[in-house]
Amino acid sequence: MVHLLDIALSPGDETPLYRQIAEQIIAGIRRGALAPGLRLPPTRRLADTLATNRNTVVRAFEELTAGGWVTSVVGRGTFVSDAPTVAPLVDGLAADAPRAELPWAMLLSRAAESEPLARLERLSRSPAHGDVVNLTRMQPSPDLLPHVELKRCLDHVFRTYGADALGYGPRQGLPRLRALIAEDLERNGVPADPDDILVTTGSQQGIDLIARALVNPGDTFLTEARTYSGALNVLAASGARVVGVPGDDDGPDLAALDSLDRPRAKGFYAMPNSRNPTGTTMTLARREGLVAWSQRNGVPLVEDDYGADLALDDAPPPTALRALDKNVFHVGTFSKKLIPALRVGFVVCPSALTTTLVSLKHAMDLGTSALLQLALAEFLERGYLRGHLRSTLPVYRARRDALEAALRRWLPAGFRWRQPTRGMVLWLPLPGGLDPEEVFEEAKREGVLVSPSTLYSTSAPAQAGIRLVYCAEPPERLEEGARRLGRALEQVMRRRRAAADADESPMTVDLV
Ligand SMILES: Cc1ncc(COP(=O)(O)O)c(C=O)c1O
Repeated sequence: MVHLLDIALSPGDETPLYRQIAEQIIAGIRRGALAPGLRLPPTRRLADTLATNRNTVVRAFEELTAGGWVTSVVGRGTFVSDAPTVAPLVDGLAADAPRAELPWAMLLSRAAESEPLARLERLSRSPAHGDVVNLTRMQPSPDLLPHVELKRCLDHVFRTYGADALGYGPRQGLPRLRALIAEDLERNGVPADPDDILVTTGSQQGIDLIARALVNPGDTFLTEARTYSGALNVLAASGARVVGVPGDDDGPDLAALDSLDRPRAKGFYAMPNSRNPTGTTMTLARREGLVAWSQRNGVPLVEDDYGADLALDDAPPPTALRALDKNVFHVGTFSKKLIPALRVGFVVCPSALTTTLVSLKHAMDLGTSALLQLALAEFLERGYLRGHLRSTLPVYRARRDALEAALRRWLPAGFRWRQPTRGMVLWLPLPGGLDPEEVFEEAKREGVLVSPSTLYSTSAPAQAGIRLVYCAEPPERLEEGARRLGRALEQVMRRRRAAADADESPMTVDLV
């Protein structure tokens, strides 16, 4: 029978030997070479045949048992399990039974067909293939993600809590994690009581929950003229009428806010630090003006500090909106400064709204993974986040500098941008009326992905541009990306000049 198993071990392989044995037996079962009911050789004999340790084979059999591939019967041996039974098809649902097409077009909600979602879908259709430099991914490249430290924390959680780590967690999030988040926020000058912190599945869910708590379909919700596309998506999905407020690099235009001729808005979503997509940071004067406006008009503010702690230069950011007013919803995340896959974010709620948000969150997903919250709490307690930032921020800074140097080298003359001092994005304004989607398409053809301003635009006019993320690619790829982008921009500009020349050529009239 051993020949049926046909096992060949590769000790140099990264896969442990016990797993190699298990995988090859599973392959035999899948092929049908090892039929249900077949008895596997005793562990000692198989170990001798494979010239390996008996414990290795015992462990392989434990793996197979855990996966349901084999069953052990005490005193008799280990047998290949029966194949799982599949429920027979019910005759009543025969394929030829008359069935009306479902009227999906009528059934779909307005939210599902909202314009921002359609925009995103349109721009992400035809994905790029091959050797592409991706300047769109808002996350650090894998070499900057601390997987070793996270594994250590997960191991510790399993050692300490065992299966107790695997249940649902408290509705509001683990108290230990909320206390650590509060401590961290206080250190950054953001007043936060752990009782008002709700742990969410990414900060995206935080924004969604706020929208669900405040918006009835048709209500107005304000944002900056150019803002995070994910916020536009969730606001549209809530049925809000999103109105963009014009502004500049310093923040929203306070006079424009005052002159808004709108029914009362349900909220204003803002990103005071390292705004996505422009990378700019709102001045203190604008923050104070915004808070005063909110208090005068009874419109709550949502402060998204997704890039917290990503300071590339030493200056701390101006005072947080939440520090100016405790009725501000302060949204944060561990995705950008740590690990996106944790999917852990949080909202510091106005006290009056905490219970509402907790209930909505519970209704939505019954809680954020308790296992990952435990691991994150361990990570924070060990000081790993501090160590991680100390080692990654210089890399972000170097990548920003590399991208800027490459843009200076490869872009056609006439392009200017503002150096980002925080966060992970650089905003490249497009001069001379260049169409951002045409640049996006041409750049994709050249092998570099960029994000056009169309994705971030609201009703308010704002200058066209493209967003370039500098932390997801190493310096040599940033250089290559800038070179390709330079070629794309030259193409688009050449086409533009040709079209302008054609417009200016004397009109010809065809006489017939
Ligand atoms: C401004 C901003 N807010 C929130 C998010 C959501 O991130 P997450 O759900 O991973 O916390 C993002 C993601 O890119 C973002 O750019």
